[in-house]
Parts: sequence; C-alpha cells; structure tokens
Amino acid sequence: MPKEPLILGDLEPFGVGGRRLCFEYPGDPGKCVKVLRTDPHRTVQFRARTRWKTAIRPPYDNNEDEKREIDKLFSKHGESVMKHFPRHYGFIQTDLGRGLVLDLARDFDGDISMSLREWITLGKPLDEVRDAFHAFRDFLIDKCIFTRGILDHNLVVFRPSEGQYRIVMIDGLGDSTLIPIALMRRKWAEKRIIRKTTEAWRRMQALSERGGISQDALENSSWGHGIRYNKAINKRVKGE
Ligand SMILES: Nc1ncnc2c1ncn2[C@@H]1O[C@H](COP(=O)(O)OP(=O)(O)O)[C@@H](O)[C@H]1O
Ligand SMILES: [Mg+2]
Repeated sequence: MPKEPLILGDLEPFGVGGRRLCFEYPGDPGKCVKVLRTDPHRTVQFRARTRWKTAIRPPYDNNEDEKREIDKLFSKHGESVMKHFPRHYGFIQTDLGRGLVLDLARDFDGDISMSLREWITLGKPLDEVRDAFHAFRDFLIDKCIFTRGILDHNLVVFRPSEGQYRIVMIDGLGDSTLIPIALMRRKWAEKRIIRKTTEAWRRMQALSERGGISQDALENSSWGHGIRYNKAINKRVKGE
C-alpha cells in the first residue's frame, strides 16, 4: 500500500526562499521538509520550455541539486561536515509535491536558528558572530569546500548554548567553478575561499549599516528574506 503523503498545506512555512517552502517536520523538531514553490508569486519562475530544451537541460531542481551536493560532501569528508551543513534524509511525498527532509538548525532554547540576514535586520551586532563566521571560513579552507554564493539568508546562526554561535550553511551548496578542485593548487583554492567569504562579510557589514532589510521589502517581496515565519510572504504564498 502506498504511504499517505505528508500534509503540509495546512501548516505555515517557517521559511520561504525564492525557490522553496520550508516546513518544520511534523513530530520531529530536529528536521524540516523543503518543497519547491509553485505559487504564482515565486521569485524564480519556470520559463516555458520546449521538450527539446528540457531534454538537454532539465529545469533546475533545488532539492535534487542540494541532495546530490550533500551526498558528495558526506562521502568525501564524513560526519565532520555536520558541524556546518545539514544532513538529508531523502525524499518523501507530501501534498505539496516531493519534499526533501533535512536537519533543521534549532537553538538551545528550542527556537529555529535565525539567518544572518534576520540577525542583521533585528539590529544584532555582526561583531558577535565574527569569530563564528571565521570558524566557518577556516572549515571551508581546511576541507577545501567550494560553495556557490555565500549569502546572508542562506547562513544561519546556530546557538548550541547561551553566547555560543556556529554558522550553518543551509542553501547554496555546490561548486560554482568548472575546474575540479582536485586539479587546483591548494593555495589557489584557499585564496578563492578567502575572497568569497571576505566579500560576503563586507556585504553583511553594509547591510548592517543600512539597518537590515527594510520593512517595505519584507512586506512586498516575492520571498521571505530569511526571516522566520514572515507573515506577509506566507499570506502571498497561500494566495490570501
Ligand atoms: N535547515 C534549516 N535550519 C534553519 N533555517 C532554515 C533551514 N533551511 C532553511 N531555513 C530558513 O528558510 C529560508 C529559506 O530556505 P532556503 O533553503 O534558503 O530556500 P530557497 O532554496 O528557496 O532559497 C532560509 O533563508 C532560512 O532562513
Ligand atoms: Mg536560500
């Protein structure tokens, strides 16, 4: 007998990205389920494609890609990557389509960890997470892990205990270069990671100086800007 799909449609997503809706996994506070957005307001639109085009280059599936990248990371580096990346538990059927089950970063007090973008927008000092960000950068260098863009809404500030911070990258995994890392000189790879993380930190400093994401953007965007349980976008996703 086929298993009944998991019902998510009645629940409120805690996160709405440009491509995906993120829900707490019912009954398991340590996990989340991500499904692809299909609402007309989604940021990343699927263009009309010919069958020929689809055969050559299938439409981008964020979940499929992320699953593959997480598998690569774990097979290469083992459990050590759990410090800064989520594990996945494969796909399940939901009423909103196929969902990828992943670790959900949750702080010591039970709250879902906030993104760095939310951290900045709430006016929290960036300096407080500087060491944690450097630890994340050093981890990428040590393991020679390349990522796509290092973006504040794809990094969360996990708080294992009061006053302790760890950066977890929940989206943006995958190597954006065409040259396999194995062929690169280690020093070159290190330079590249330092450049990308330094640029990311500068962008976050600039956002912090601007006072974070504006109220107008939060209320009128096509995605949630990494803000947990963003009411305005959740309503739009539901067509209310
Ligand atoms: N594992 C997670 N732990 C904590 N927060 C998460 C997690 N996954 C996603 N989020 C939150 O949900 C938002 C959207 O998720 P994301 O995976 O980035 O979607 P998209 O692929 O559409 O960009 C993130 O910006 C983040 O705030
Ligand atoms: Mg994202």
